[in-house]
Amino acid sequence: MFIKEKGIQMQKHYIVAGSSSGIGAELTHKLLSAGHKVTGISRREVSGFSGDYTHIQADLADLTTTLPKIEGVVDGVVYAPGSITLKPFRSLSLNDFQNELNINLFGAIKTIQTFLPNLKLSEQASIVLFSTVAVSIGMPYHASIASAKGAVEGLTRSLAAELAPKIRVNAIAPSLTDTPLAAKLLSTQEKAEASAKRHPLGRVGTAGDIASAAEFLLGENSTWITGQIIPVDGGMSSVKLM
Ligand SMILES: NC(=O)c1ccc[n+]([C@@H]2O[C@H](COP(=O)([O-])OP(=O)(O)OC[C@H]3O[C@@H](n4cnc5c(N)ncnc54)[C@H](OP(=O)(O)O)[C@@H]3O)[C@@H](O)[C@H]2O)c1
Repeated sequence: MFIKEKGIQMQKHYIVAGSSSGIGAELTHKLLSAGHKVTGISRREVSGFSGDYTHIQADLADLTTTLPKIEGVVDGVVYAPGSITLKPFRSLSLNDFQNELNINLFGAIKTIQTFLPNLKLSEQASIVLFSTVAVSIGMPYHASIASAKGAVEGLTRSLAAELAPKIRVNAIAPSLTDTPLAAKLLSTQEKAEASAKRHPLGRVGTAGDIASAAEFLLGENSTWITGQIIPVDGGMSSVKLM
C-alpha cells in the first residue's frame, strides 16, 4: 500500500506484454513510477526499470509458447506486441496474414487466457489491447495488418460483453507513433515531415501519447468505459482539414 497525494491507494499488479520497447516500455515506466507492480513479457529482457518489476521471457507469436501461471490478483493486462507489414495486396502471402494474426491476435488471446483467473480476483480489472487507425479508415498496403487488427477489435467488443461487469476490455487505435516499430517509416527528415503533415494535429504520436491513454484505461478514472476502440491518432480518423 502506498500514499498518493490525498488518501491511500492500493498498489495494483499489471501485466504488460511488450514491455521492452515503445509504447509498452513507456507504460511500464509510468505504472512503476506510480508505485504499481508490473510483470512484463517480451522476447528481450531490458534493464532500466526501477520499481517492482518482474520479467517473463516469451515469444508470443509462437503458437506453441505457454506462459507461466502466476499466483494472486492481477488488476490489468495490456497486450502491446504488434507489427507494421506494409505491402501491396498482390505481394502478400497467406503466410504474411498468418504471421500478423499470430502476433496481434493469437498472442493476445493466449496472454488474456493465461491471466484471466488472476483478473477475476480483482475488484476492478481492465484489459487494454491495441488496434490501428488503419482499421477505421482504409489505407493502401495495410491489408494484412488491418485484417489482424480488425480481428482484435472484434475480440475487444466480444470480451467486453462476456467479462462485464467485473473486467473492462478496451482497445486503443493509434496512428503513426514514433517507436522502434515505426522507425522505417520515419527514417528520414522528409518522411518524418510528410507523416507529421498528414495528421490534423501536425505531428506523429509519441510513445507517451499512447501510453497515457493506456494508463487511463487501466485506472480508476475509466471505470465506466468498456467495449470501446479509442482512437489516439492526432485527429487522423475523424478530422479533415480544408
Ligand atoms: N508505432 C506505431 O506507429 C503504431 C501504430 C498503430 C498501432 N500500433 C500498435 O501499438 C502497439 C505497440 O507498438 P509499438 O510501436 O510500441 O511497438 P514496438 O516498439 O515494436 O514494441 C513492441 C513490443 O512488443 C514486444 N514483442 C514484439 N514481438 C513479440 C513477440 N513475438 N513475443 C513477445 N513480445 C514481442 C517487443 O519486445 P521484444 O522485441 O523484446 O520481444 C516490444 O516490447 C502494437 O500493437 C502496434 O501494432 C503502433
